[in-house]
Amino acid sequence: TRSIDLAVIAGDGIGTEVVEQGLLVLEAALAGSDVTVATRDFDLGARRWQATGETLTDADLQAIRGHDAILLGAIGDPQVPSGVLERGLLLKLRFTLDHYVNLRPSRLYPGVTGPLADPGEVDFVVVREGTEGPYVGNGGALRVGTPQEIANEVSVNTAFGVERVVRDAFARAAARPRRKLTLVHKHNVLVHAGHLWRRTVEAVNADFPDVTVDYLHVDAATIFMVTNPSRFDVIVTDNLFGDILTDLAAAITGGIGLAASANINPDRDASGASVAPSMFEPVHGSAPDIAGQGKADPTATVLSVAMLLEHLGLPDQATRVEAAVAADLTERGGRVRSTAEVGKDLAARVAG
Ligand code: IPM
Ligand code: MN
Repeated sequence: TRSIDLAVIAGDGIGTEVVEQGLLVLEAALAGSDVTVATRDFDLGARRWQATGETLTDADLQAIRGHDAILLGAIGDPQVPSGVLERGLLLKLRFTLDHYVNLRPSRLYPGVTGPLADPGEVDFVVVREGTEGPYVGNGGALRVGTPQEIANEVSVNTAFGVERVVRDAFARAAARPRRKLTLVHKHNVLVHAGHLWRRTVEAVNADFPDVTVDYLHVDAATIFMVTNPSRFDVIVTDNLFGDILTDLAAAITGGIGLAASANINPDRDASGASVAPSMFEPVHGSAPDIAGQGKADPTATVLSVAMLLEHLGLPDQATRVEAAVAADLTERGGRVRSTAEVGKDLAARVAG
């Protein structure tokens, strides 16, 4: 038997509600197998910060590191100044654990009606770089509050950082039927970073000759995502473009309530062990406006659990979770269920 050590950061708002259901479905997926899961809850987020002023201590990080994976609900609260938890907790986790592959799949499931009249078949994945770009915090301000204020946010792009995520995206594209990779950037304006990304994609393509590559400026990519989303297979892009594009991608495939994500560190040490736990989280936030009402859709978290299972080498269980979601979406129609009802229904489907 094998045990999965899972760090759980339920977080704020609807985070705790959706994570509870995600764990229920995870249990159902492992029931009857020789794999068990042991969870440890981490009290991180708004409550902890308000009580202690701490966002993520070294001790927290060290404890989290010892786990096989992390399941995160959502963080953020209107009582906490913007940026405190985002930078101090969520991004700190992504950066410290070196989650350089931020994987965000978008699929339009049968039965789901999005805002597009004729979307065609939509099934693509955005490989968003997770540790660089403007997110690094390499900026600063001068003369704050004066009419001469200067506010700089520098986008950091390293050859090392770009190459490793591009390589990962190529490998993912090569494993998919259409074998197509689209680089999204803005190299006509952001010439330094843009050209690094372009040259890197060109160079790595030599190692993946079966993959067809194309390029879109990010503004044009938003048009195509609405007018012809089925043109996309794998998209690789930087941290900020990826953030924006994946919200749009969620919007065209049934909304943010269905959008799953994985923050992956694919690196392994000499013994083949993962160097850091990867983190799985719905793309949505803590939604304080509906928190505590039991009406958040846990589906994005459940799909993130499927990604977790896949990542931990349990593809059959992952497929069962995804199939349960697909069936649930096909049959859900206009029915309104509570968070717990959706979780219970999904767990029942997974259990078969
Ligand atoms: C996301 C979120 C985060 C991001 C915020 C909360 C820092 O929007 O996961 O997409 O920008 O990456
Ligand atoms: Mn976002």
